[in-house]
Amino acid sequence: MSQKIFAIINQKGGVGKTTTAVSLAAAYARMKRSVLLIDFDPQTNASTATLDQWSHSVGSVLEGNIPINDAIYQSPEGFDVLPADYHLTSTELKLLKTQDKESKLKQALATLNRSYDFILIDCSPSLNILTINALVSAQNILIPIQCEYYALEGLAKLLQTIDSVSKQLQVSHKLYLLRTMYDGRNRLAVDVSNELSKHFTGQLLQTVIPRNIRLAEAPSFGESIFTYDKSSQGAIAYLALAGELNRLTKQLEQQDA
Ligand SMILES: Nc1ncnc2c1ncn2[C@@H]1O[C@H](COP(=O)(O)OP(=O)(O)OP(=O)(O)O)[C@@H](O)[C@H]1O
Ligand SMILES: [Mg+2]
Repeated sequence: MSQKIFAIINQKGGVGKTTTAVSLAAAYARMKRSVLLIDFDPQTNASTATLDQWSHSVGSVLEGNIPINDAIYQSPEGFDVLPADYHLTSTELKLLKTQDKESKLKQALATLNRSYDFILIDCSPSLNILTINALVSAQNILIPIQCEYYALEGLAKLLQTIDSVSKQLQVSHKLYLLRTMYDGRNRLAVDVSNELSKHFTGQLLQTVIPRNIRLAEAPSFGESIFTYDKSSQGAIAYLALAGELNRLTKQLEQQDA
């Protein structure tokens, strides 16, 4: 079984990248699948939501100061985390001056001393060298989209960038678009969602993540949505997402075999 690596990307801020990364990691752990969650954002939201403390972080790994295996911690929810710290911004600048700057994460992942069913990379809201490292490492790109006015415009730009980076670095990806914070009572959200269904039939996931306050509350208690409120709409939706992505990636694997 090959490792399924997902880069969770959108240059737009606050669209649900971290919530998706953390909730998916917890969902797969509940399904007894092995997961590594990588925090690739100096805001460190995914790390603080899943760990109490950590002394090593992904920045030191990328700079070659410590082996990746020494910077992996277990979350109480049963998945592994490669956390970030705010120094990741300076790592980013240092990387720009190095050789193979786009493939530092890929090289580090190749030295993991165990294999995972899923590796989820929570990217920052920018298309910087770290995000490019995530693109080079992952076969799958998961793009959370909030169905609002500028979403489609932003998405078009993001897809162009992914396309040009992929061509330049000779990597290919399977794209998945995920509607997040969806409110079906909002006319604009419904219109944007319909547009997405029209233009991105092959990429748009069926699962829709609803706007659900429980998802926003859970991290402040250091819990995932499943321990915080497992019967919430948010928990149900993220379990469905885990199932859908599992099915789709398995189908692709079988086609390729
Ligand atoms: N489905 C949801 N319903 C309600 N609130 C949500 C939902 N998803 C995320 N949120 C909240 O919205 C805010 C932004 O979400 P999140 O941090 O996941 O976005 P992000 O894309 O990772 O942001 P950034 O670009 O800053 O990294 C957070 O306060 C989060 O708790
Ligand atoms: Mg985030």
